[in-house]
Amino acid sequence: MLNESVPFDPARDPAALAASGALEGNIAQFAQPRGPDLLRRGAALDAWCALRARHGVWPYARVLEGPPEPLATVAGDGMPALRGINFASQDYLSLAAHPAVAEAALRALGEAGPHSAGSAVLLGNTRYSRRLEGALGELLGLGQVVLFPTGWAAAFGAITALVHGADHVVIDQLAHASLRQGAAAATRNVLVHRHLDCDHVRELLAAIRARDAANAILVVTEGLFSMDADSPDLPLLQHLCREYGATLLVDVAHDLGAMGPGGLGVIGAQRMHGRIDLVLGAFSKTFAANGGFVACAERPARRQIQMYAGPHMFSNALSPVQAATVLESLRIVTSGEGEGLRADLMRNAVELRALLAGAGLHCLGAPSPIVPVWMGSEAVARVAGMLLAHDAVFVNPVEYPGVPLGAARLRLQLMAQHTPAQVRRAAGLVAGAAGRAGAGRPATHTPGRCRG
Ligand SMILES: Cc1ncc(COP(=O)(O)O)c(C=O)c1O
Repeated sequence: MLNESVPFDPARDPAALAASGALEGNIAQFAQPRGPDLLRRGAALDAWCALRARHGVWPYARVLEGPPEPLATVAGDGMPALRGINFASQDYLSLAAHPAVAEAALRALGEAGPHSAGSAVLLGNTRYSRRLEGALGELLGLGQVVLFPTGWAAAFGAITALVHGADHVVIDQLAHASLRQGAAAATRNVLVHRHLDCDHVRELLAAIRARDAANAILVVTEGLFSMDADSPDLPLLQHLCREYGATLLVDVAHDLGAMGPGGLGVIGAQRMHGRIDLVLGAFSKTFAANGGFVACAERPARRQIQMYAGPHMFSNALSPVQAATVLESLRIVTSGEGEGLRADLMRNAVELRALLAGAGLHCLGAPSPIVPVWMGSEAVARVAGMLLAHDAVFVNPVEYPGVPLGAARLRLQLMAQHTPAQVRRAAGLVAGAAGRAGAGRPATHTPGRCRG
């Protein structure tokens, strides 16, 4: 029994933590509460979250004080603010603190004010958003660009605008929630393929085309999967789409700008510049702002997205400050300075992965801004995350619905400005925390369920 009058330190009292029940359960259990009272039937979920928070294993909705820099101050739910090494935010090229980006944002604020005047279809466009559309089109070699208020809105909006009930979607089993929810909202004909498995995609496309030659098929994948740090074979997927009369959509939220030649991400690395049917992205990882976009070569597709994507038509457009911030970030991304920042980022990724592997931990995927460290059980991930927070190393412990049940991991997101000393120190502390929490290696990493 816990003594409520004595501050409970779960890092010092693992037995009490285990006995508390805070390491048990998962969010899937609470997804469909029953009863007529919509406002109170989530009480069991609320109690479970509160139990975890009381025991220091609720690492969500923490508060970042100041910018998302490698050294950051973070306050937790019930935890005092702590300054430490930050691997829990996504500013891969460290542009959020770049003086030229701040200056561009301030200039736009002075010139055009703090908000957009309406949806992009009404009077929400600004000279900054127009320039941004042009710059993105040029970067990607795809001239038809539609902007969205968030990356999530771009994914959901584009899929629901283009695909209707008689069409089909073939989607990677680990695709982001925005893509899967867009697919589910667009059509009941959604087929999920095994992660990165092009043979399975071919099988599904052949089966669809054998019975339906009349309707469209959208194949949906990501450039860099953000929980697994791996990538599909884009030339093969695009080839299969041509063969079966399907259209390929690639979400490059995490890799565009942060990786690849000229910042072109996995599309550039796989020599598919200008050759993917639909490219979708978010500004929230590398471009120091909120917002998203869809790009393609076909004007009819752009028109269809503008007119039928709810979050483009019925939500206020990017603010001038956001658009100017992304524009300036894009300028840096495509400059020599951008190349240097990407080299620093990749050096950090390679170094961190080598140190963690040397300590016996299993990092999923390949070197990228994201380093997912396998934990397996949710309890292990919760304890490791909590121990790291006590050591002032901030990481995101990820469990269902971010990843399948039983496939929990620590996700570390790197920045160009993490120093080699910070990477070394963090690697040692991650290895120590994972060891104390009981992390092992996966028997075989076979992702089972889609991300929520
Ligand atoms: C692959 C992918 N697509 C889209 C999004 C949504 O982007 P945003 O957070 O900018 O809305 C995310 C967010 O993490 C993502 O990982």
